[in-house]
Amino acid sequence: MTEVDLATSADRSATEWWRDAVVYQVYPRSFADSNGDGVGDIDGLREKLGYLELLGVDAIWLCPVTCSPMADHGYDVSDPRDIDPLFGDLAAFDALIADAHERGIRVTMDLVPNHTSDQHAWFLEALSAAPGGPARERYFFRDGRGASGAEPPNNWRSVFGGPAWTRITEPDGSPGQWYLHLFAPEQPDLNWGNREIFDDLARTLRFWLDRGVDGFRIDVAHGLAKPDGLADMEHPDKDPTLLGSAADDPRFDQDGVHEIHRNIRKVLDEYPGAVAVGEVWVDDGERFGRYVRHDELHLAFNFRLAQADFDTTDIREAIDHSIGAVDPVGATPTWTLSNHDVDREVTRYGDGQVGLDRARAMSLVELALPGVVFLYNGSELGLPNVDLPDEALRDPMWERSGHTERGRDGCRVPIPWEGTKAPYGFTSGPDGPWLPMPADWSGLTVEAQLEDLASTLTLYRTALELRRRRPEASGDGIEWFPAPPQCLAFRRSGGLFCVLNGTEHPVPPPPGRLLLSSAPLVDGKLAPNSAAWLV
Ligand code: GLC
Repeated sequence: MTEVDLATSADRSATEWWRDAVVYQVYPRSFADSNGDGVGDIDGLREKLGYLELLGVDAIWLCPVTCSPMADHGYDVSDPRDIDPLFGDLAAFDALIADAHERGIRVTMDLVPNHTSDQHAWFLEALSAAPGGPARERYFFRDGRGASGAEPPNNWRSVFGGPAWTRITEPDGSPGQWYLHLFAPEQPDLNWGNREIFDDLARTLRFWLDRGVDGFRIDVAHGLAKPDGLADMEHPDKDPTLLGSAADDPRFDQDGVHEIHRNIRKVLDEYPGAVAVGEVWVDDGERFGRYVRHDELHLAFNFRLAQADFDTTDIREAIDHSIGAVDPVGATPTWTLSNHDVDREVTRYGDGQVGLDRARAMSLVELALPGVVFLYNGSELGLPNVDLPDEALRDPMWERSGHTERGRDGCRVPIPWEGTKAPYGFTSGPDGPWLPMPADWSGLTVEAQLEDLASTLTLYRTALELRRRRPEASGDGIEWFPAPPQCLAFRRSGGLFCVLNGTEHPVPPPPGRLLLSSAPLVDGKLAPNSAAWLV
């Protein structure tokens, strides 16, 4: 290497620290409660940074902690430049960043630019302003259809169920215009055709970057641009789901969205090392890749793996798709098995011991891959989804769907830290945690797993350490090798071999030295529903 090459690669590793990072997603309501109100908070997270350092993650993605009436638990933001008192304050946030940085952990935060809360000053102003004025131009206010305007302006549906429009009462008391909300009525969509929206977002970006955050996760990054005219959908009956959108869905993936991302990128480029990862539910690989061109988002979530069954054809297809979508534009793939919007992997793969075995196996598959791994809090403990009673459900999806969709609370149950009884050290408050915790989680606590060599936590810690230290766990590509039916074998270009046995019987491992396996070998063979790393 010449001196110039060396300098370039050193710059690249400083500014592109995220290229093969493991990012830990903290759902703050459910992580750790420091003040006994039953809801997790920033100080609670700060107290647990030692745990995250021990686990070996490179960065945190913190779900929204900005001011919010909490209709969608923080994804309805009423002030994007302040911390909600439920979670703490700016001083607590600054202290979190300082402490995390001291431990070598970077902090990225959620940004919600597609919509605001209905309690945001802009929306309140729009409600009290006359139709047609600039205050309403920040959102999508339209007259209704039909003689008296009593029908919604178009046939779009909300992702949470029901129409995507709500009618307001005008300041003079008459039935008025309608406003668009792709999610809950408390989340009015912003009109990104209005330059003021971008200018305000740029202020928000700089506000947090100046405080030391290392980047953002951008909510609904594929939904910011809406088509001119807001024409009816051809298939409105196909209810949209989180994580999926059809190619002809006018609500998402409009071409105009890319200019918005280019403008966001220009601001981030003022802060070397700052990263943006977009939530992009776009199935088509070529269209997905457009979001991570060199002047747009650095990264985008690819949800294929989180949607794949424990089936080797599906898994391989998801891996090939994720790499194939970003490779042509020179971007980095991302991997995730779950997040706060989907069922936990243990449950998706079959629940009970089989589900856990498979989730452990998939953690080794995911961590062997090139690119960025997003790890949802609790995955490292092998937590399953929780079947909550109706009266405990808090997700707006439950009400909006007329009690047909149970929503996402089952994957948001608080983290069990220690002890043998609920709430397992999550909160010390008299009212208990905001979602009930199961009585049989004493074996799943951090305390119970920390020293146990066979635990899921130990498996994750070991895998993260090997991924960080072994030279074989490097390189941008993978190569598939022939494997028996319902098995997979691939080699990372640095040399690490990963094999997955998806069958119900033991399978001989390929030649090589075993580094780690998700289950003990059975007579020298890979156990059913297990994976291993070899060099
Ligand atoms: C994203 C978030 C989800 C939220 C929605 C609306 O999909 O991940 O939790 O409900 O956006 O903001």
